[in-house]
Order: sequence, then C-alpha cells, then structure tokens
Amino acid sequence: MIQIAIDGPGGAGKSTISKAVAAKLGIVYVDTGALYRTVGYYVRTQNIDPHDRVGVSGCLPQIVIEVRYVDGAQRVYLNGEDLGDRIRTPEMSMYASAVSAIPEVRAFLLETQKDIARKNSVIMDGRDIGTVILPNADVKIFLTASAECRAKRRYDELIAKGQTVRYEDVLREMNERDTQDSTREIAPAQAASDAIVFDNTGMKLEESVEAIVSLIREKTGFAG
Ligand code: DC
Repeated sequence: MIQIAIDGPGGAGKSTISKAVAAKLGIVYVDTGALYRTVGYYVRTQNIDPHDRVGVSGCLPQIVIEVRYVDGAQRVYLNGEDLGDRIRTPEMSMYASAVSAIPEVRAFLLETQKDIARKNSVIMDGRDIGTVILPNADVKIFLTASAECRAKRRYDELIAKGQTVRYEDVLREMNERDTQDSTREIAPAQAASDAIVFDNTGMKLEESVEAIVSLIREKTGFAG
C-alpha cells in the first residue's frame, strides 16, 4: 500500500494530475475538496452563513457523507444523494473554503479521509494532506503555479462546463480563496516541511503527470 499526498492552491492542477497519476499507477484518487464542498452545499441549503461557526457546527449532526468509488471515479453522497456537479460552482468553492476554516468541520471529515487511506493505496489531494491527514505519506508534493496560470486553467474548466464567468472574477475569487485557505488558524494550506514543491506554470498536463509518476516510482519503488 502506498500513500501519496498532493497539496496546493486552487487551479494548480491537483485533481486532473492526481486522477491521471492514479490511473497510471492503479491506485485510488481521493478528492478531499469534494467533502468540504458537500458540507458547504448543505450549509447553503439551510441558509446558514458559512462563516458562522456555531450555525455550521450545529448542523453537522444532520449530515451523513458517504464516499464511493464507481469504476475508479469518486462519488460523494450527501444524506444518500449524489450531488454531482452541483458542488463545482464558484459559489460552492467559496462556501467550501469558508466552512473548511471551522475546526468542527475539519474534525467531522477527518476519519472519513483517514479511513479511505487505511483501506486503499491512494493519491489524495487537498490542502492539509501532507501536514495533517497523511503525515507519514510515502511521497508529499506541494503543487503550485502562478496565479494567472491557475486562474486561466480554472476559467477554461468553467467555460468548458458551460458556466458564464469572467477571467478577472475567477482570478480575484481564486486569490481571495487562497488567502483564506493559507492564512486560517487550523490546518492552513501550506507545504509540509518534507514536501517536494513542484511549480508547473506553463507545463502541459502530460509533462506534469510524467514527472510526478517518475518521482513516485523513484521514491517508493512502486511499480503499479
Ligand atoms: O480542492 P477544492 O477547490 O475542491 O477545495 C475546496 C475548498 O475546500 C478549498 O478552498 C479549501 C477546502 N479544503 C481544505 O480545507 N482541505 C482539504 N484537504 C481540501 C479542501
């Protein structure tokens, strides 16, 4: 069993790259951001301010989150319902970021994440994987890229999904969210001291995937 931690800011390519690496190595890709997005979604349906610690932590007992893997793809169920792309909007990004700064929310999602990594060889992406969730991961990578490059990737992704967005708004929201995620008191998005910082500005997806697969094979001897 191997554990690979991939952390970094939004738009660095964590999920696309991790998915491709998982497929090449035959391991499970775990998108932990989807869990925070799911909590954010529920909070929105209850008309609770996502920054309201008492309100948000008070509604956690009403939430059951289940993670399943169907043909290698992760599905997250909120009280039995698969939310699909409803958690992928810019609004849900902001909700997820806000609720993720609440200690009770992080505690609520901790066991779910650890449990998946106990049962499977994983490449897990998030903000605190190398620092909190998998401190003993075999390989830790902090994936990053320039803010403009990350915003352009996120913009292209949203446009491809048919959403109407402006590049300037995507860039501004991305910077706001990164500041919020990296300066919060609990589990801030920061590279673990033993993480390899990988800046993929201007790199093609395939190049990043190849580089990371080589790195993992080199460090772990995993043939997969
Ligand atoms: O990776 P993402 O954009 O789907 O994550 C959404 C938000 O969830 C992100 O702004 C911060 C939070 N998050 C977190 O705090 N810790 C993680 N391991 C993953 C995501």
